Amino acid sequence: MGITSQYFKPQPHYSSLAKKLLTLSLFALLPLTLIHFYFYHVPLTQSLPNQVPQNEHIIVSSQAQEERSNETPCDYTDGKWVRDKSGPLYNGTSCSTIKEGQNCISHGRPDVGFLYWRWKPKRCALPKFEPTTFLRLLKDKHLAFIGDSMARNQLESLLCLLSTVSTLDLVYRNGDDNKFRRWYIPSHNINVSIYWSPFLVKGIEKSNTGFNHNRLYLDSVDDRWASDLDGMNMIVLSVGHWFLHPAVYFEREVVLGCHYCPGLNHTEIGFYDVLRKALKTTLEAVLDRRSAMDVIVTTFSPSHFEGEWDKAGACPKKKPFTEGEKELQPMDAEMRRIEMEEVEAAKKKASQLSVAGLRLEALDVTKLSWMRPDGHPGPYMYPFPFANGIPERVQNDCVHWCLPGPTDTWNAILLEFMKRWEAQSSSRRDG
Ligand SMILES: *[C@@H]1O[C@H](CO)[C@@H](O)[C@H](O)[C@H]1NC(C)=O
Ligand SMILES: *[C@@H]1O[C@H](CO)[C@@H](O)[C@H](O)[C@H]1NC(C)=O
Ligand SMILES: *[C@@H]1O[C@H](CO)[C@@H](O)[C@H](O)[C@H]1NC(C)=O
Repeated sequence: MGITSQYFKPQPHYSSLAKKLLTLSLFALLPLTLIHFYFYHVPLTQSLPNQVPQNEHIIVSSQAQEERSNETPCDYTDGKWVRDKSGPLYNGTSCSTIKEGQNCISHGRPDVGFLYWRWKPKRCALPKFEPTTFLRLLKDKHLAFIGDSMARNQLESLLCLLSTVSTLDLVYRNGDDNKFRRWYIPSHNINVSIYWSPFLVKGIEKSNTGFNHNRLYLDSVDDRWASDLDGMNMIVLSVGHWFLHPAVYFEREVVLGCHYCPGLNHTEIGFYDVLRKALKTTLEAVLDRRSAMDVIVTTFSPSHFEGEWDKAGACPKKKPFTEGEKELQPMDAEMRRIEMEEVEAAKKKASQLSVAGLRLEALDVTKLSWMRPDGHPGPYMYPFPFANGIPERVQNDCVHWCLPGPTDTWNAILLEFMKRWEAQSSSRRDG
């Protein structure tokens, strides 16, 4: 697959912004928000290809199941947010595993309206998350979330949902900021873990002491999770935002090119094809094992910076977008498209190899998340940011999601996939 520079279009103010970014030693989130904010304003020169067909994320592999359910499976991709008085299963007090920066209500976020929405797919209903069903379907298994802080966001939502009915024991933790953790759920003999791996492939993350850009090795998977793959039954892969950072890309130890690396004399190749290659390498590594596993790829999660990123209202919306109110941004659409396509390609390959019990699915959350500009912590990533009036500069998180919040819906859809898979394999068992 050729890596091209078709998407890169230098902008006049880019270099001064990037220089500022590379020289300031700010902590992790700030560069992320800056770069992200910046990319929102880079127009794509390409016209965007059509989205993949809306119902492609659903496999109906069994005739029997089709007859039993007597209808096409629900497409959760497209729909709208509707008011829901019942509210979330948990809150910031009842769940103890929410990352500080996402515990919005406890941090003084005054409007609680964002808690009372339910995702309504166009032609069907998405049931509320049922923790007991999830635990039953995951009995005796190991579920691993692998990726960046969005993977963590989704994991922490799941932990809160499950802890409403069961005890979760933290049995392992490693890495700064708890990047590697595992919980054991004794009631159902389940392991749930998180592996930090923001590129999925091998990489060296930029740091204050090392390189000021990321280094990605696109032909090898990251051992930090891959070496544990044999003990996993279900994996949720979730990456994207880290691909936007300045980076140098390698393949078989040779430099392929870079993304925003002034002074390094490498060819700018953007990040879209790099994301594609990283996913391809990852999914191929999983397929090459030729053994049973459920593989979910959570699609790109859009951010919502408006106006100036360091002002109080960087993502000030208090309500979801209504249908058609604001179109998905080109970069979000493109990141999603690449992920959807790579999952499709891997599905095809899996069926050619006919590996028993290997199931792949894209958890297509891009659009439903895009429609939730109200769901981010914004300034409430810190406790009570306005306790002493409105400061001149406020750090905002318009990338991650408050908990409770929209990621609870991602897990509700994940559960529907698991239910469908269960129905398919039991109908196969029944003949
Ligand atoms: C949080 O949830 C717990 C348990 O359901 C409940 O007792 C408590 O009142 C809730 N707190 C808030 C602030 O809603
Ligand atoms: C859970 O993890 C522990 C420790 O690695 C392992 O011994 C056990 O077999 C795992 N159980 C399941 C169901 O994956
Ligand atoms: C930049 O790379 C080109 C091609 O590899 C090489 O010919 C040139 O000498 C390099 N320039 C510098 C300053 O390293």
